[in-house]
Amino acid sequence: MEKKKLLVIYHSQSENTAQLVEAVAAGAALEPQIELSVKRAFDADTEDLKWADAILFGTPENFGYMSGALKDFFDRTYYPAQPLQLCTPYALFVSAGNDGSGAVREIDRILKGYPMKKVAEPLVIKGKVDADALEACRNLGQTMASALQLGVF
Ligand SMILES: Cc1cc2nc3c(=O)[nH]c(=O)nc-3n(C[C@H](O)[C@H](O)[C@H](O)COP(=O)(O)O)c2cc1C
Repeated sequence: MEKKKLLVIYHSQSENTAQLVEAVAAGAALEPQIELSVKRAFDADTEDLKWADAILFGTPENFGYMSGALKDFFDRTYYPAQPLQLCTPYALFVSAGNDGSGAVREIDRILKGYPMKKVAEPLVIKGKVDADALEACRNLGQTMASALQLGVF
């Protein structure tokens, strides 16, 4: 049987989100039947969206919004993705100083238009990336991978 494909698309400037990505990927890797791809937003394109059976988006919140890099990814792929009507299941994780709500709100709004299907509550990590944050990210990655493998979405 062909493996289901899980994609992580992220940006990180000062590497806080990158730490979350490592934990998300480690959690997803616990599900051996899943093929995992991790891409920086600037390196990802519409082909990656076509490839993925589910997507985890990771970003810092910058100026009450998603990172410019993730916005650039959406700018480049929104119209090419329209004829595909992807409906890909997705979840978000956000690294924020003290908020994160603006990034979540605007990413969800944009993804509705692709369209994609939100399948988990967003994980917002505020402040320092500590052990609890990393565990929450591992759980998110494992949950997405297991649910994808079981055909929950
Ligand atoms: C230019 C800039 C703008 C920021 N704006 C926000 C913000 O609006 N809300 C917030 O909670 N944190 C804000 N932060 C803090 C970052 O979200 C936080 O430091 C995050 O962990 C950075 O992730 P990264 O290391 O993956 O880039 C901002 C940081 C920078 C550099």
